[in-house]
Parts: sequence; structure tokens; C-alpha cells
Amino acid sequence: MAKIISLVNQKGGVGKTTSAINLASCLATAGKFVLLVDLDPQGNASSGLGINIRQMEKSLYHSMVMSESSSQIILKTETLGLDIIPASQDLAGAGIELVHMENREFRLYNVLREVRTNYDFIIIDSPPSLGLLTINGLVASDEVIIPVQTEYFALEGLSQLLNTINLVKDNLQPELKVMGALLTMYDKRNRLARQVVKEVQDHFPGRVFDSIIPRSIRLAEAPGFGKSILSFDSFSKGARAYKNLAREVIKMEKSGNKFSV
Ligand SMILES: Nc1ncnc2c1ncn2[C@@H]1O[C@H](COP(=O)(O)OP(=O)(O)O)[C@@H](O)[C@H]1O
Ligand SMILES: [Mg+2]
Repeated sequence: MAKIISLVNQKGGVGKTTSAINLASCLATAGKFVLLVDLDPQGNASSGLGINIRQMEKSLYHSMVMSESSSQIILKTETLGLDIIPASQDLAGAGIELVHMENREFRLYNVLREVRTNYDFIIIDSPPSLGLLTINGLVASDEVIIPVQTEYFALEGLSQLLNTINLVKDNLQPELKVMGALLTMYDKRNRLARQVVKEVQDHFPGRVFDSIIPRSIRLAEAPGFGKSILSFDSFSKGARAYKNLAREVIKMEKSGNKFSV
């Protein structure tokens, strides 16, 4: 039965999609069966893995809104063991269409329920908002990873995010847990970045992943080639960091040794 993990932060540009693509690829390369779910209408996780989202007939929208079977929309990627449910532009309207639907917060949960036994991990890339799509992602998840960019204002918006997670937990998905904060785009030569690491560690005591994702041009270049960092440049420092993160995630799942909430 898959562990379902959402990457969530309502801020854009903090590394959600980069982390979703590369964590999913590294888990698959470590021998796990993985499904990546692109919940962002911009479809960056889909195009970042080489899927032409304009030519696609079916996407997550068709399952979430039109209730089509999820087996219809799952695609294989070039990484063995990694499948994807792609997003498309029509998902942007779903946020509004869903408002009037029955079980509107459970649409993604129901989509994934059908396929969850086929995978070890399901990784959900969320849009940069706390709207109904992201809520669907949280309700469908067991765990949340919060990517935090090691920049000015890193902590801005985090209390609102944690509030939303707690609301979901209290009302919709009591088992939901915060797995931890993931520091991204870290530049060790930058004093501010080192200070932000410390601030985030103070803010999430004991709940920050040891793996810190460095700022790396290679990580930013890979999606333009439709590749994960492992297929693009598997010895780069970015690849190393995401392999470490995957190892950390697998270890936490095995030991059941979660960061306490
Ligand atoms: N570790 C990194 N080093 C350098 N650039 C990065 C890194 N992580 C992400 N980026 C780039 O920063 C931008 C935002 O990242 P992205 O993963 O799309 O964030 P989000 O999904 O939170 O909006 C993208 O252009 C991406 O290629
Ligand atoms: Mg994104």
C-alpha cells in the first residue's frame, strides 16, 4: 500500500516541482514503484518529465472532475518504476468546478484509492495556493513535505500553511502528518542562507530533513530536457542531494520513526 506524500507550500518558486520530480525519480531508481501526481494546472512536473501536455487527451482533470477511471490517465515515464498522472490546463477550472460537487475535498483521494495498492510511494506536486486542489492533495495524503527556499522571507506564510494542514487534519484527514521541512536552493557560501537554515531548524525543531538541496544550475536545466536530474546528470551535487533525500524518506517509512508532530 503506497505511502502518499504531498509537497506543499503556497509560495511559488520554492522548489516543490523540482523536488517532486527528483524525489519520485530517486525513489524509483532505488527500486520502489512510484506514481507522481501533477496537481498543478501549469503542468510543470509533467512537462519536466518530457510529457507534451498540449497533445495529451486525458489528464488528472478527467479523473477528478469527470470521474473517469485513473488507469486511463496513468502514463509511464522513461524512468523504470516511475509512472505519472499528468496535469493539463483544464485543471485550472477544476478548482471552481469542484466547489459545487459532492465530496469535493475527496476527489483526488478517490482517484488514488483505485491505484494505491500498485505503488510503494505516491508523490503529489501541489499548485502554489491553498485552494481546493491543494486541499484535495492534503486529504489524499498520509504525509506532507514542506519545501522551503533558503532565502529572505523563508518563513513567511508557513504559519498559514501549518494552519491549513491542521484544519485538514481536524476535519478531513485525521491521520495527516507533517513529515518535515525540506531546505532547497541552498548556497553554502551565502551567510544569509546559513542563517535561514538555522531559523527553519528553530521553527521546525527536529523536523527538518538532513538532506539539504543545493542551488544548482543542473537542477534548473534538467526539466528543459524533459529529464530528472538522475538521467540528466547523475553525478551532479543536485542528484546526490535528492538521492540522499530519497534514502532519508525510505528510512523514515521503514522505521516508522517520524518526526513528532
Ligand atoms: N536547487 C535548485 N537550484 C537551482 N534552481 C532551482 C533549484 N530548485 C528549483 N530551481 C528552479 O527554481 C524555479 C522554481 O522551482 P520549482 O521547483 O518550479 O518551484 P515551485 O514548484 O515551488 O514553484 C525553477 O525554475 C527551477 O528550475
Ligand atoms: Mg511547481
